[in-house]
Amino acid sequence: MTKTMIVLSVMITFTTLCPRVYADDGYRLWLKYDLVSNSQKLREYKESVKAWTVEGNSPTMEAAKRELRIALDGLLGSRIPEVGSVGKDGMLIAGTYTSSSPFAGAEIRNTLEKVGPEGFVIFTKKIAGKNSIVITGNQDIGVLYGVFRFLRLLQTEQDISRLDVVSFPRIKLRVLDHWDNLNGTVERGYAGFSIWNWHTLPIFIKRRYIDYARANASIGINGAVLNNVNADPRIMTRHYLKKVAALADVFRPYGIKVYLCANFDAPILLGKMKTANPTDPQVQEWWKDKAKEIYSFIPDFGGFLVKANSEGQPGPSDYGLTQADGANLLAKAVKPYGGIVMWRAFVYTYNAKDRAKQAYEIFKPLDGKFADNVLLQIKNGPLDFQPREPFTPLFGAMPKTNLMMEFQITMEYLGQGTSTVYLAPLFKETLESDTYAKGKGSTVAKVIDGSLDGHKLTGIAGVSNIGADRDWTGNEFGQSSWYAFGRLAWNPNLSSREIANEWIRMTFSNDNSVVSSIEEMMMQSREAVVNYMDPLGLNMIFGYDNHYGPGPWIDYSPHPDWNSTYYHRADSLGVGFDRTETGSDAVSQYNSPLSEEFGSLTKCPPKYLLWFHHIRWDYRMKSGNTLWDEICYHYYAGVDSVREMQKVWNSLKGKIDSEEWNDERMFLEIQEKEAVWWRNSCVLYFQTFSRMPIPAGLEKPDKTLEYYESLKFPNAPGTW
Ligand code: GCU
Repeated sequence: MTKTMIVLSVMITFTTLCPRVYADDGYRLWLKYDLVSNSQKLREYKESVKAWTVEGNSPTMEAAKRELRIALDGLLGSRIPEVGSVGKDGMLIAGTYTSSSPFAGAEIRNTLEKVGPEGFVIFTKKIAGKNSIVITGNQDIGVLYGVFRFLRLLQTEQDISRLDVVSFPRIKLRVLDHWDNLNGTVERGYAGFSIWNWHTLPIFIKRRYIDYARANASIGINGAVLNNVNADPRIMTRHYLKKVAALADVFRPYGIKVYLCANFDAPILLGKMKTANPTDPQVQEWWKDKAKEIYSFIPDFGGFLVKANSEGQPGPSDYGLTQADGANLLAKAVKPYGGIVMWRAFVYTYNAKDRAKQAYEIFKPLDGKFADNVLLQIKNGPLDFQPREPFTPLFGAMPKTNLMMEFQITMEYLGQGTSTVYLAPLFKETLESDTYAKGKGSTVAKVIDGSLDGHKLTGIAGVSNIGADRDWTGNEFGQSSWYAFGRLAWNPNLSSREIANEWIRMTFSNDNSVVSSIEEMMMQSREAVVNYMDPLGLNMIFGYDNHYGPGPWIDYSPHPDWNSTYYHRADSLGVGFDRTETGSDAVSQYNSPLSEEFGSLTKCPPKYLLWFHHIRWDYRMKSGNTLWDEICYHYYAGVDSVREMQKVWNSLKGKIDSEEWNDERMFLEIQEKEAVWWRNSCVLYFQTFSRMPIPAGLEKPDKTLEYYESLKFPNAPGTW
């Protein structure tokens, strides 16, 4: 063990084992390792795990030992000895498989052949006649993942008497994108400043960096893009690369690679060249040299993420070249080192007839033109991380390109840091959407896990919600979306409910009634926010630029598609964006039969209705209500759901940690006010067009539209 590791180990052990003097503040995330509360289970666990050993001493295996040490001691309430040899009853053995492993055998070897480098198996076995639990994998990182999985079984109080777990990730690159700026601010970040302290790096290694790596490894996240997509090129200078390398060193034992966002104009901005034209041999040479330099600092550097020709960022179109030309330039530079490029498809111009169609129009013709170490990173919806969007039709339209998913975990457009919105249902809705690219069952999940078109280089990214706030995500429930992202990146087939269940048990309590109450609350939280912000397919009706409060009246941006009115198109006749054949024809970007379904007023799922159709206010919905009444009912249902969530939470007083309970109580109070604000603003605004009354029985807004339009929120992040 190196000196740094000993210090780390002592620090982690100290903070975990110390009896808690204060109430919980959320810092420990889902890795709390508090004493197992069910005494029967505790007895069983103590019988099954009387001692443990981890074979090997690589940095990853040392990380596994540190984790087992702190976790077992905490969960089982007494020191569980680490021993050097097997052959005792109740042994937990973790180690990379070799033919001389004490648990070696044909069956296990065959199983391991199917789980790849990061997979693992956990099983119960008699070794030398003694009951043992084995955690093994093909590589050390698989064993570490297996250790975390085993600990989760204890944390969630599962039966461990006959273990037979086989697990491996379905997607290769499982990445968090940090939109962190070098000055410490975070674009669309609502949990305080950046967790990276560029000033004190590379010498000062905050404990938070290690805990960040532990948390990510515990859910299988294996990559981190450290800086904002609106990239400051200085991140690629020696000064910063030393700091990046220090973080890479911390993350490496936990299986996490670092990536950087590259500014396409870096040859000009850093290299003092006159051009960044990809066809210029000197530009190509510059990127080649830059890659060489980066890899000299970070030998396992993951590669670049690039936002090009989007929202003012430079890119290949500046030279009349395609997005593929740009991507391939950088891909060639990192290729010799095994690096990759994640090239973003978030590209649009400001005055298009229909912004939702643009990425498809730009990228679809480039299918097959990208180098094999490029992944096209596509946002889940065609616009921009709205509370609900249909999936981007590029999924299912570019079979010859490595396509990766970009989700947003941070809460832009979702009430920001104070709202409780569990995002797994949003992620799942996209992953389960059927693209029909190769007939029924061609889901988005199958596109991105590579199985639909036979791709090996696969990926999924989540824009991180992590900041320097003590509880990491500004609101403890934000942790659940980070957790869910990692779990779904590992296995997109998991259900939102089972992920919520795990997270609640590890975060709050294993008491079944507490778990089911919080689960209900979480499961309705996403639909609640859709209802009180933009139901029935409405979209992009947010306050200007801050993307926080309601702003359906916004129409003053010089960029037409930055105005809310561009999206909702309300007029005296009706509301909604006509994307049918007779409108912008965005429906034709979807494969049949989806294009027909979305294009038909009667067949279009109500949740996407106003996304695809402009409809009369008095149109009769399937429910029998007019469209106007239906819109109102959705807005009111959204507020009701938040009030319901408050009731559920209030009923948990005394059943979970008091500080955590009180924090969430206050956040829900904020959310309820915001939900009413959204509802009233939108209903009053749209009423100026519909000229129809709010249905009887619904409470009337207590303020005027003028009042809501006059509101300013100078303290909301994003307005600074
Ligand atoms: C949104 C967001 C920006 C961000 C951009 C992106 O537009 O508001 O802050 O830079 O997405 O994804 O690049």
